[in-house]
Amino acid sequence: MASYKSALAATALLSLTLAAPLKRSQAVQPVTSIKYGDLVFDLGDITYLASVSKPVTTVNGISGEPGFAPVTVLKVDGCTIDASTISSTIDSYHTGDDVFSESFLHGTFISSTCAGTAQLGADASSYLSGINSTLLDHGLPSTVEPGPYLASIASDGSISLSKVYRLYQDRYRDFVFGTYPAPEVGTYQALPNLLTEFQDLLIPVPSRIYSWSDPRPLAGVRVAVKDLYDLAGTQTSAGSRAWAEITPIANETAPSIQQIIDLGGIIVGKQKTAQFASGADPWDWYDVQYPFNPRGDEWLTCSASSAGAGCSIAAYNWLDHAIGSDTGSSVRRPAAVSGTYGNRPSQGMISLVGVNPLGAAQDTAGVFARDPLVWSHFAKNWYRPDMHQDPSTNGLEPLSIVDSYDLPTTIYYDPDYLPVRNPAANALIKQFYSDLNTALNITTITTNITNILLTHPDPAVTNTTYRNNASSLLNTRTQWLEVAEPLLTAWSSKYAGRFPPIDPARRPGWITRTPENYTQAQYDNALAIKRNFSSWMNHDFLGNGNPTMGSCADSSLWIYDIGTGGLPSYREEDLLDRNNVTTARLSYTPPGVLTSGVNFCSFAGCADYTIPIGQVGYFSNVTQVVEMVPVTVSVVAKRGCDFVLFNVVERLAEVGILKTVKTGRMAF
Ligand SMILES: *[C@@H]1O[C@H](CO)[C@@H](O)[C@H](O)[C@H]1NC(C)=O
Ligand SMILES: *[C@@H]1O[C@H](CO)[C@@H](O)[C@H](O)[C@H]1NC(C)=O
Ligand SMILES: *[C@@H]1O[C@H](CO)[C@@H](O)[C@H](O)[C@H]1NC(C)=O
Ligand SMILES: *[C@@H]1O[C@H](CO)[C@@H](O)[C@H](O)[C@H]1NC(C)=O
Ligand SMILES: *[C@@H]1O[C@H](CO)[C@@H](O)[C@H](O)[C@H]1NC(C)=O
Ligand SMILES: *[C@@H]1O[C@H](CO)[C@@H](O)[C@H](O)[C@H]1NC(C)=O
Ligand SMILES: *[C@@H]1O[C@H](CO)[C@@H](O)[C@H](O)[C@H]1NC(C)=O
Ligand SMILES: *[C@@H]1O[C@H](CO)[C@@H](O)[C@H](O)[C@H]1NC(C)=O
Ligand SMILES: *[C@@H]1O[C@H](CO)[C@@H](O)[C@H](O)[C@H]1NC(C)=O
Ligand SMILES: *[C@@H]1O[C@H](CO)[C@@H](O)[C@H](O)[C@H]1NC(C)=O
Repeated sequence: MASYKSALAATALLSLTLAAPLKRSQAVQPVTSIKYGDLVFDLGDITYLASVSKPVTTVNGISGEPGFAPVTVLKVDGCTIDASTISSTIDSYHTGDDVFSESFLHGTFISSTCAGTAQLGADASSYLSGINSTLLDHGLPSTVEPGPYLASIASDGSISLSKVYRLYQDRYRDFVFGTYPAPEVGTYQALPNLLTEFQDLLIPVPSRIYSWSDPRPLAGVRVAVKDLYDLAGTQTSAGSRAWAEITPIANETAPSIQQIIDLGGIIVGKQKTAQFASGADPWDWYDVQYPFNPRGDEWLTCSASSAGAGCSIAAYNWLDHAIGSDTGSSVRRPAAVSGTYGNRPSQGMISLVGVNPLGAAQDTAGVFARDPLVWSHFAKNWYRPDMHQDPSTNGLEPLSIVDSYDLPTTIYYDPDYLPVRNPAANALIKQFYSDLNTALNITTITTNITNILLTHPDPAVTNTTYRNNASSLLNTRTQWLEVAEPLLTAWSSKYAGRFPPIDPARRPGWITRTPENYTQAQYDNALAIKRNFSSWMNHDFLGNGNPTMGSCADSSLWIYDIGTGGLPSYREEDLLDRNNVTTARLSYTPPGVLTSGVNFCSFAGCADYTIPIGQVGYFSNVTQVVEMVPVTVSVVAKRGCDFVLFNVVERLAEVGILKTVKTGRMAF
């Protein structure tokens, strides 16, 4: 940590003659001791975790009965520390952090940003005693970050300060477990699941104040990770109890997640995925309970497979981002039904080493967010050229990413893909096209993609059966070799020839599959088909005939709907089937088209972002009142134009066309 401190953060400690001994606090109510002796405690109405096994510092106390006391390290701006600067610092902690509370002012350590020696104003100590806070001076090292801590007072009078985490209830059941750093550097531990409230897990979230002096681009950003990505010290289950049983605890963190940690991000937990990243509907989850969507009547689908990710971003203000993966639609669709921002990046954008695979040539890693600018900031820092996959992984040309504000000037409109099914949602989409034109001078070009596909000479473009067959082969071979075969073999030998208990999304395919279905020659042929289609999609269609990778200003965007077209997609199958006039299943292919919009970028490797633009009402068969369901658009850009598309997003956010979505029933 210390090496990341900026010059400003250099702390000049005061020499205080007024300092008093720290008394233990009756307000700290220990709940339980967990791994390595870490302490879960209540303070006021809130439950916290303190990593007492790994205190940040131990200082000599003056006296004190052994016990615990909540304390705050206050870092005051400037060289004069008086009642007003202390009070405004405390106010900034209240405003900027959800872990800090009044209760941590039982004892106060004061430091300042002063380069010389700070002066304590006459009214400082009376201010602190007025708020019942003991002013402490125990020679705190300058490396201790400001923020709330739990002080453990030992019988020898020494005081250890431990970081505190607020434990948030996972009311929407999006997580598999919460995580926080383990004693061994670079590893994590799962918060034990015995700590539940009404069966809801608790997720540990550290004070944001600890990261305020850390200049790294993702410092203190709270991130949850789909349970396909390895996180050292924790179990990856891929949504399968059988897989968890035969695989060891991860001993390394996936490089894509390590990158987030290296940039200052905080990994707060692992999240639910449809088993082995399948597209299973809510009612087809057997091993794991399906998460809940906070939108509308709280009885809508979260889609799949990054179900926990999308719904958690729609649910929890205390969480900034969730990392999902998208092979067939697994980021884009969960973002659509939760009314959040979520992207499928260009194929090859970031290493997927240490990630439970589906199809190596089509898997991608995307990120969810509520705020368009925060989303863009995260993605531009996370996706770096040194993390691109080797082109041999996907058979496409090497990826080259441009970050330019020369934005595309044209956008396609295909009336066979829009209008969407709910006319109220369609009005929002029409308005969005018009706003794009006003804000960015993007001209709409009406086209007929089906017609273009049908008249192309290459079967890789024109023949949907041929293309889908290749795509499905690509989407299953890696998983067969790296997951299915090892699982089936290990289970069979452990349980006398038995097939493992897995969800129906995978069971029939894995029972009939044999290595002959997945030869290298078949795979290479499928890659060649993908390459041809990608070339048509990115160069001919989106690229307007320009074959240059990274040439974005002269490319076009395209919009379609990946969601429900403004209709409620219930998590309950019976409600959908009995009610199909007003409700909709996902995976909808508009009449008259060859290929659903979602398939284009999965196969062609282009960038496809789900963007929330509004909401429309529906009468809920569950709550029996009118609720709101989010409306999103899927915006497609040429492969390699990811950052340019983020720049489009930024511009639209700056002029107020795109907004921060709220958590809860209504996105807007
Ligand atoms: C300080 O403590 C006293 C005695 O317990 C109490 O009456 C008073 O309300 C407290 N003041 C604050 C600001 O909490
Ligand atoms: C993690 O385990 C794998 C497989 O058991 C092993 O090959 C690898 O070296 C280990 N890595 C570390 C950092 O221990
Ligand atoms: C908008 O775009 C059109 C066509 O590309 C161009 O002719 C026009 O000058 C642009 N208008 C502005 C205000 O930039
Ligand atoms: C687009 O082209 C297809 C195939 O030629 C045709 O069936 C369809 O009606 C066309 N759509 C529109 C809106 O003209
Ligand atoms: C399209 O491809 C499929 C599968 O490869 C093949 O069976 C079919 O004959 C092709 N259709 C045409 C029109 O070529
Ligand atoms: C795989 O190939 C076998 C024959 O080798 C066939 O019986 C089976 O249906 C195929 N499975 C799939 C999923 O294509
Ligand atoms: C599907 O792809 C495999 C592998 O390339 C090929 O062997 C098979 O014939 C294809 N089936 C169809 C219907 O095109
Ligand atoms: C790919 O395109 C090339 C040139 O257009 C063509 O010769 C080749 O047959 C195509 N391959 C496939 C698998 O469609
Ligand atoms: C209702 O569902 C049935 C079967 O899926 C379908 O044939 C029918 O067109 C649907 N009705 C409406 C109004 O969407
Ligand atoms: C759901 O509500 C709609 C609108 O009131 C009603 O027409 C429909 O019958 C209800 N469906 C079910 C399954 O209750």
